[in-house]
Formats: sequence, structure tokens, C-alpha cells
Amino acid sequence: MQPRTITNNEIVLAAGDTIQSRTDTRGVITHANPTFARIAGYSVEELVGSPHNIVRHPHMPRSAYYVMWEMIQRGEEFFGFVKNRAKNGDHYWVFTRVNARRDASGTINGYMSIRVAPPKREVLAEWDAVYAQVCAVEAALPRDQQCEAGAKAIVDYLKSRGHNSLTSYVMSQV
Ligand SMILES: Cc1cc2nc3c(=O)[nH]c(=O)nc-3n(C[C@H](O)[C@H](O)[C@H](O)COP(=O)(O)O)c2cc1C
Repeated sequence: MQPRTITNNEIVLAAGDTIQSRTDTRGVITHANPTFARIAGYSVEELVGSPHNIVRHPHMPRSAYYVMWEMIQRGEEFFGFVKNRAKNGDHYWVFTRVNARRDASGTINGYMSIRVAPPKREVLAEWDAVYAQVCAVEAALPRDQQCEAGAKAIVDYLKSRGHNSLTSYVMSQV
């Protein structure tokens, strides 16, 4: 894996940009649209066959993805604000929806995600701060305790904002 060097440059999605991807059940990319490639700075060929963490930004806590995987594996839709890392270390924020795909018998056979520019940019500073706090919670713990403690920190934050689910809070911000 390449080192996750970062710049502080933000790539701001245009209103019409829609980033789409599909993965297998393990999160290996099976389809990437040209907008995904253009914004992330990879070719479609580089993206397809790579694990989706190719765009993982080091400011994102592990527990955010733990929460996402728990939801989508149960068949629930995940909505969230995600900071991703482009190939050159720049970052781009997205409002994302991730959900399962199913075969004819109803068994989950992959996942898909659609991402657009967050409609209200003012929520991004808040999420940057929340993710930094959750990363700090994780960093203070051994690896095998990080995801559970981070997920709890996220739930505690949602409660402090008067919401008992991530989905209801995120949907109140779009
Ligand atoms: C459909 C789908 C879309 C995903 N999109 C992203 C994404 O945009 N950015 C990201 O960092 N991880 C994304 N993930 C999660 C990654 O698979 C991975 O769990 C995450 O990057 C954490 O990687 P790590 O466990 O290696 O730290 C996605 C997963 C799925 C199934």
C-alpha cells in the first residue's frame, strides 16, 4: 500500500458530480465511474480491483467504517459525510450512501455507493472535529478495542445533538 501522505488541499465537488462505485462483498472495487476516477486522481483501471480503502483518508476513524460495515452487512443503508484522500494526498468531502446489492435469491453479493457534494458545506468542519475526537479516542486504546470505543463515541456525540441514530442526524444535515 502507498503511504498516506496528505496535503491540506481540498478538492470541492461540483454540484453535478456523482461518484459511483460497486464492490464485491469484501470491499474490492468492481466498478468505478469516470467521475470517481477524475476526482480521486486515479484511472478507472487503477480503481477496479483495488480495495476501497485506496481512498481512505487518515483523518477518518476506523470506527466510522466499522459502523458502516455493520449497517450494510445487515442490509441497512448507510448515509454519512466522508473525507476521502485523492491519489496526490488532496482530500474531498462527500455525502455518501452505501448499500447492499443482492442476487435473485436475496443474498448480498456486493455493495454500491453513490456520493455527491455535501449540500451544506458548513457541516464539514463539525464532522472534521468529530472524526478528530473519535480518532483520539481510538489512539488511546489497543487496536482490538478501538472500533467499539470509537463507535460508542460516535453514538454519544449523536445523543449530545439530540439524535439516536447516525442516519437521522446525517439526514438532518442535508
Ligand atoms: C460500496 C463501498 C464503498 C466504500 N467507499 C469508501 C470510501 O469512499 N472511502 C473509504 O475510505 N472507504 C470506503 N469503503 C470502506 C472500505 O472498504 C474500508 O472499510 C475503509 O476504507 C477502511 O479501511 P481499513 O479497514 O483498511 O482501514 C467503502 C466500502 C464499500 C463496501
